[in-house]
Amino acid sequence: MSKLFSPLRLRALELPNRIQVSPMCQYSAIDGSMGDWHLMHYGSLALSGAGLLVMEATHVSPEGRITHGCSGLYDEANAAALARVLAFCRAHSNIAIGLQVGHAGRKASSERPWQGRGTLQPGADPWPIVGASPVPFADGWPAPTALDHDSLRAVRAAFVRATERAAMLGIDLIELHSAHGYLLSTFLSPLSNRRTDEYGGSRENRMRFPLALFAAMREAWPAERPMGVRIHGSDWVDGGWGVEDAIAYTAALKALGCDYVTVSSGGVSPDQRIATGPGYQVGLAETVRRETGIVTCAVGMITGAAQAESILAQGQADQVALARALLFNPHWPWAAAAALGAKVAPPPQYERAAASTWAGMIPTGSP
Ligand SMILES: Cc1cc2nc3c(=O)[nH]c(=O)nc-3n(C[C@H](O)[C@H](O)[C@H](O)COP(=O)(O)O)c2cc1C
Repeated sequence: MSKLFSPLRLRALELPNRIQVSPMCQYSAIDGSMGDWHLMHYGSLALSGAGLLVMEATHVSPEGRITHGCSGLYDEANAAALARVLAFCRAHSNIAIGLQVGHAGRKASSERPWQGRGTLQPGADPWPIVGASPVPFADGWPAPTALDHDSLRAVRAAFVRATERAAMLGIDLIELHSAHGYLLSTFLSPLSNRRTDEYGGSRENRMRFPLALFAAMREAWPAERPMGVRIHGSDWVDGGWGVEDAIAYTAALKALGCDYVTVSSGGVSPDQRIATGPGYQVGLAETVRRETGIVTCAVGMITGAAQAESILAQGQADQVALARALLFNPHWPWAAAAALGAKVAPPPQYERAAASTWAGMIPTGSP
């Protein structure tokens, strides 16, 4: 019996297997609204056979977007565009669909990755950025304006509004983005948070804003639907945020009704030293899971069926999220199921390619 292909229940949501399509920005929205690219991208991933598809970081305000192409859920046009993509996917697939919501903080107003990833230069329509403290991300990046109490309230209200919109649209699961050097992780990390008010200093103070935000969103999100957080497992910098902090943060989130965490890391400081390699963040997930008992999703260079199966079988995580492996092969779960003796249901149009009916089976290069 494959663990990877066993069901996972989060509140009223029953996922048929433990493969998550990891959220992936597409940088292809216009004024925050998803378009035809998203129909193709999410339409294809809706047929992947994964148990859960989490849509890209979707921003709660225009200034909270990473790039001009990032998706948002801050106005009715954004909501209508997302509704169109959802209806398209739902017409052809019953995959559970989640949405990640976020705010880029001091990494907002950046170039799309294929245009360089740097901060937007004059002439490229940059916008003023906000953050926990007026500390730039890196040399050559602008210093954000520190959010005062009124602005913090406004940011929290924007997250709640996006949550309400996502609930109205019928999104199955919502995920708060609290990693990768975006707004919430810069509150958490002592490297980026230099505040002297109740939101800075001790770890308890640095967690205060993200936790209050989570609590407000949880209240606005239907009780039967799950809500999770992509957490920041480590800065990978001496003196920065580390796994002990991630454990404390997760325990506090769990007490507020968080159903799962996905453990990622990095992105707060350009001085980070990450030893990347297969499953490089799984150890962080394992520690957080062991110490908090929360449903935990591991992510980061998980590319093989046997690798994914072993992470779950050894109790290092409860779910795995895959990003690049699913862009490379959007039917990765079909091949993984065949390799592990399990089944995913292909759409009827593709039934002749099901492993059980096709003598050729599992093409070269499958997981
Ligand atoms: C194109 C692309 C876009 C991404 N966008 C997001 C995002 O919107 N939110 C997020 O939390 N992570 C994002 N990530 C990170 C992935 O979700 C994942 O954590 C990372 O790529 C490591 O997993 P992998 O080795 O399976 O690719 C993105 C990654 C890629 C490749």
